[in-house]
Amino acid sequence: MFINFWYAAEETKNVTDKPLQVRMLGHEFVLFRDSQGKAHCLANTCVHRGASLAHGKIKGDFIECPYHGWQFQGADGACVKIPSLGKDARIPARAKVDSYPTQEKYGLVFAFLGDLPETERPPIIDIPEFDNPQWRVGLIMTLWNVNTLRGVENTPDPAHTEFVHPVMGFQGGREDYDVPHIELLEGAWGTSTRTKFVTPGATGSVKAEVKGGGFQTEAETGHHGATTTYTWIQFSSTAWSRQYSFNTPVDAYHTRKFFLQARNFALDPAGDARMDSRTRDVMDQDRVVMERVQPFFVPMSSTEEVIVPADRVIIRYREWQKQWAAKGWLIDLDGLAAAGDSKKFAIPSPTRRTNKGWALDPVPLVRSQQNQAIAAE
Ligand code: FES
Ligand SMILES: [Fe+2]
Repeated sequence: MFINFWYAAEETKNVTDKPLQVRMLGHEFVLFRDSQGKAHCLANTCVHRGASLAHGKIKGDFIECPYHGWQFQGADGACVKIPSLGKDARIPARAKVDSYPTQEKYGLVFAFLGDLPETERPPIIDIPEFDNPQWRVGLIMTLWNVNTLRGVENTPDPAHTEFVHPVMGFQGGREDYDVPHIELLEGAWGTSTRTKFVTPGATGSVKAEVKGGGFQTEAETGHHGATTTYTWIQFSSTAWSRQYSFNTPVDAYHTRKFFLQARNFALDPAGDARMDSRTRDVMDQDRVVMERVQPFFVPMSSTEEVIVPADRVIIRYREWQKQWAAKGWLIDLDGLAAAGDSKKFAIPSPTRRTNKGWALDPVPLVRSQQNQAIAAE
């Protein structure tokens, strides 16, 4: 799991003036809106004696802890009131919780879980179809019992569709099946592939049939940053589907998927249910395979697998991860486990760069020598 990316935390409509607890990167957070309607994301652990802020109350622009009533400001996490000290008491400087930058886009509240200054943050992927009336966009949410980085490997994988998805492949039934040369495209925050393949098609298909049976389809699919994936499928010269998946690590073992699907055909909302149900079926076909993949985490070394050319984009994705680890963005799961249950950490927020004196230590990160070794592999 990486810090320093934007993560989809919740659907916009579920973030209200009532506190909402969400778990991301193995840590608890509280989301709420202030009196101006601005969404906030704070570390959920009260720095007094550890109560869950999400079980407290929103008081205007502040959240009040349910245990002893300390109040914290949504905008910067500073404690503004400690009732037991009496009126007008001086608030200790260490009385603050981490507050994370938020953005609302595509019907989702995103939180930046890390301490990078604004200009250095990897951006949220651009989805130009979202506000375009030529496109119809739907959201599907689901939970997978997979490690997120492992699960992300499934999307840009050009060789799995033939076997995992009966609507898109022939399940190994074509004698002449192979994965033709795939083009790798490098972006600022990830790698994608472009492929052409033949699919069986479905009833009412918008595709054009090709000689010899099946339908010619083109697709580009890749990752953006550590946990966002996208797949653009061109069924015909005019019918396209563009899918974006924001994969939020709940913890190292679970992934919450916020899946946006855009189509530029069958724009009538009456078609949504059918489209959603098809997509859910396809996602479930992936889930069934991915929840059983071993080892559960991405293997330490690719010598423990037998890699072929069709896996090139997966290898590139792992190389990107090594670069982010080398920057010190990778959470040290062994360090976390070794600390045990009497130690609580926080995902560091940007304020920690300028404001010292915090009750909770930042989460352990894979650092220095380990990073250099990872980057050199
Ligand atoms: S634990 Fe939150 S006010 Fe005491
Ligand atoms: Fe798939």
